[in-house]
Amino acid sequence: MNGKTPHLVQYQGSKRILAPQILQYMPYRFNRLIEPFAGMAAITIAAARLGRANEYIINDINSPLVKILQSAIETPKILIDKYRKLWEEQFAYIDGSIEHFYKVRDDFNNGDQTAEKMLYLLARCVKGSVRYGSNGKFNQSPDKRRNGTSPKTLQSNLYEISYYLKGKTKFFSTDYREILDCAHQGDIIYMDPPYQGVSNVRDNRYFSGIDFDDFVQAIEKLNERRIDYLISYDGKCGEKQYGMELPEHLNLKKVMLNAGLSSQSLLLGKRETTYEALYISPGLQMFENSPHIETQYSLFNTMSL
Ligand SMILES: C[S@@+](CC[C@H](N)C(=O)[O-])C[C@H]1O[C@@H](n2cnc3c(N)ncnc32)[C@H](O)[C@@H]1O
Repeated sequence: MNGKTPHLVQYQGSKRILAPQILQYMPYRFNRLIEPFAGMAAITIAAARLGRANEYIINDINSPLVKILQSAIETPKILIDKYRKLWEEQFAYIDGSIEHFYKVRDDFNNGDQTAEKMLYLLARCVKGSVRYGSNGKFNQSPDKRRNGTSPKTLQSNLYEISYYLKGKTKFFSTDYREILDCAHQGDIIYMDPPYQGVSNVRDNRYFSGIDFDDFVQAIEKLNERRIDYLISYDGKCGEKQYGMELPEHLNLKKVMLNAGLSSQSLLLGKRETTYEALYISPGLQMFENSPHIETQYSLFNTMSL
């Protein structure tokens, strides 16, 4: 299939660029794709575009993000109409579009957490990066150089995403461990937990960093239940390593994916490539680089029933 995978809005940490590499490590066809740390669900969207799974489960602890995805997929026209109204307001706003952003942000922080408001804040904020203060309030600033994705651009992406996922997707907003408990053999789980470097803020509502030992324990349980998964975790930029490695006793295979030139290094005048680790569960390691993934996988499923 040609063309790019559509996305709703820029989201810091999105796996959109890496999606084609990550999908190579999944079977050709499988039952359900489960994303417990979905963010803007780049992997789900990329997989659905290629018809790789029968069903999809999207979860993120940050419920306004899930609301965006649910409205985009189930009721795209309603979301685009509401977003357009909000987006156009910024040009008519008497104090300018920056003030308009702050007004929407205040409304959001006072409890008006609709999908269109979250979408507008994401589309207009610095680097599409969701930041909450220790009081749980969204505190990211507006990007002064941009007005945010135009409704026209958004509209075509939104309808395309809805086309791929409508009627096949379930939405949740809870801790990842509850979602892992619902998985069955034959499902594939893709996990992209919050970056270890920025995830240690404990009193923060949405980015309450996940505990390393809890995470390892959750993976041990998946291994016991023979459930297959892929995990994006640590990485490397130039000589610099970031994040902790997952322990050896989990029997995972680690591959390094090329995430391209680091924009932060470029700003400092250096050309450094970022590599992100992908950990492959024991049951998926046999499919790697296989031209017969589909056949082998069905065989495996039959054997494990
Ligand atoms: C690195 S981002 C995922 C980005 C995603 N792969 C994409 O392409 O957009 C990690 C996500 O994990 C979510 N998160 C953090 N703690 C969580 C938890 N305990 N359970 C579920 N989701 C959590 C965050 O809200 C964030 O959206």
